[in-house]
Amino acid sequence: MCGIIGISAKADVSNDIMTCLKSLSYRGYDSAGMAMVGDGQISERKIKGKVSNLEDYIKNNPISGNCGIGHTRWATHGEPNTINAHPHTISKISIVHNGIIENYHELKTTLKDNGVNFISDTDTEIISQLINIELMNNKQPLDAFIHAISKLEGAYAIAAIFSDYNNLMIASKVGSPLVFMKSKNKTIISSDAYSIAEFGNNITYLEDGDIITSQNNKIHIFDRALNKIKRPSKRISKRTKDGLNGHEHFMMKEIKEQPDVLSYALSNYLDFTEFDIKENKFDFDFSNVERIIISACGTAYFAGMVAKYWLENIANIKVDLEIASEFRYKKMFFDEKSISLFISQSGETADTLAALKYAKQNKQRVISIVNAEESSISNESDLVLPIFAGQEIGVASTKAFTCQLATIASLVLYLGGLKGAITKEQKETYIQELMHIPSQILQSLEFEQTIKKISKDIYKSSSALFIGRGSTLPLAFEGALKLKEISYIHAEGIASGELKHGAIALVDKNLPVIVLAPDDLFYVKNLSNMNEVYARSGKITMIGKVDNEHLKGLAINGIDIDITGKFNIPIIMAVPLQLLAYHVAKLKNKDIDQPRNLAKSVTVE
Ligand code: M6R
Repeated sequence: MCGIIGISAKADVSNDIMTCLKSLSYRGYDSAGMAMVGDGQISERKIKGKVSNLEDYIKNNPISGNCGIGHTRWATHGEPNTINAHPHTISKISIVHNGIIENYHELKTTLKDNGVNFISDTDTEIISQLINIELMNNKQPLDAFIHAISKLEGAYAIAAIFSDYNNLMIASKVGSPLVFMKSKNKTIISSDAYSIAEFGNNITYLEDGDIITSQNNKIHIFDRALNKIKRPSKRISKRTKDGLNGHEHFMMKEIKEQPDVLSYALSNYLDFTEFDIKENKFDFDFSNVERIIISACGTAYFAGMVAKYWLENIANIKVDLEIASEFRYKKMFFDEKSISLFISQSGETADTLAALKYAKQNKQRVISIVNAEESSISNESDLVLPIFAGQEIGVASTKAFTCQLATIASLVLYLGGLKGAITKEQKETYIQELMHIPSQILQSLEFEQTIKKISKDIYKSSSALFIGRGSTLPLAFEGALKLKEISYIHAEGIASGELKHGAIALVDKNLPVIVLAPDDLFYVKNLSNMNEVYARSGKITMIGKVDNEHLKGLAINGIDIDITGKFNIPIIMAVPLQLLAYHVAKLKNKDIDQPRNLAKSVTVE
């Protein structure tokens, strides 16, 4: 997803901008660029592809200046190419932008009718053109900027520099994240707190409609009504850059980190000495809550599906679950006995954030389960439950999913106890089972060599099915999503019982079918469905309680995950699915950490 950066300082900032662009690149992008002001001129360098291409390009064609902007672009309007890459410089103004200008078509048509020539296909160029027109009408930069953005509809974070003002940077945001950091020598703005964390400890989140100006290291912030205001700053931990630790890809590093991060996440919420809940972590009045409305996107939505299963079956609390992009436009039945729960790794997903805001407008109290604690979703929530997965860089979410499940499990136990749905003894048993998660994950990681072999049976297929029931149905969806996003093999997750209602028509000797059959109350049912696939010559890989009989008879491959425990099953079974997707993608030689067309942080609708 697009990332913007802007730095104004007392010395050359080109290296700092490059550093930040590298940090932003985990968000997924297809081109990169930067622009600097110097000697009354704006110099711009941009290029299709990786930040490393830009770095090489700048080595041969250097630029410098005390004020500059940078950008990683994830194409929305106009194909990923150098012309459409940001910054967009028109005469004396250059800007970078994250978001979507929804009325760009009308604005562009009007400007074209008035003789304006456009260089790119982007919605962003509208903003440069509008500001340029105001400057040509002799407006001062701030006035020109304010006037131009007043015409925009949609979501944006914008940073602008001006050739006639060596050290002036102006930025604003509506709907897209924007933070700034000020030190003795420089002011940095960014769409991502982590990307600038190495430059200091304090960041400030801007609010929608805010405009910030920085000139000669003096900052002014204005709210939507143009009142001068101050926004509170927050302390962030200085992060050393995560390396690959000897792994070829971040995805594998993150898969392998799961025993550690899960142990950390669980021990934040659960007391493994007393086998009890750390109740102070749930500082929220749940007393009248009878219904929870959950919303999220992608993998986080599948974590929400597991949450629904657990909350209803273990804590006896009714749950409504909605995909965030639907939720935000739907008639939702909020009432004073319901609360809304949003799940997001990045804490910045535009649809989830919009759904959250919709819930808040309807007076819902809001809980969020997030990885990025410094994020828009956290900032808007009444209670934040961090998942402690650590930075996740691979676009395919792995450790964040299992840490989301661990956090949800803790919440379910807390609520189950509070609502009297589980006894003290049951709670203790569940916590004892959860305590084994890190070691059970380690055991499931030991299947990697087997999974590598299984991948050879799958990577040439054009399609695959994942089937499951109960708490493994969300895993069937998640397994299919993982496979398709990094290997580009079409895959579908289906409720095992639904096969016979349509999808079984796809089954033949070429179709891999991954059957999720743990030792739970659906085991026998899953075996029947596996038989249906076998009878049609489907290529079965069975994950769960696998014995030799199944392997000799029905399945061509098996991964024996011999665990029980309502919470443990979906958490542990996620791991072989992650490994499977990884090794299939590796055999296909795909860009595992940055799959095509995908972004890590989806900050546009
Ligand atoms: O940051 P979020 O958890 O809100 O992101 C939601 C989805 O975009 C994300 O889970 C996506 O589906 C991943 N690429 C899945 O691996």
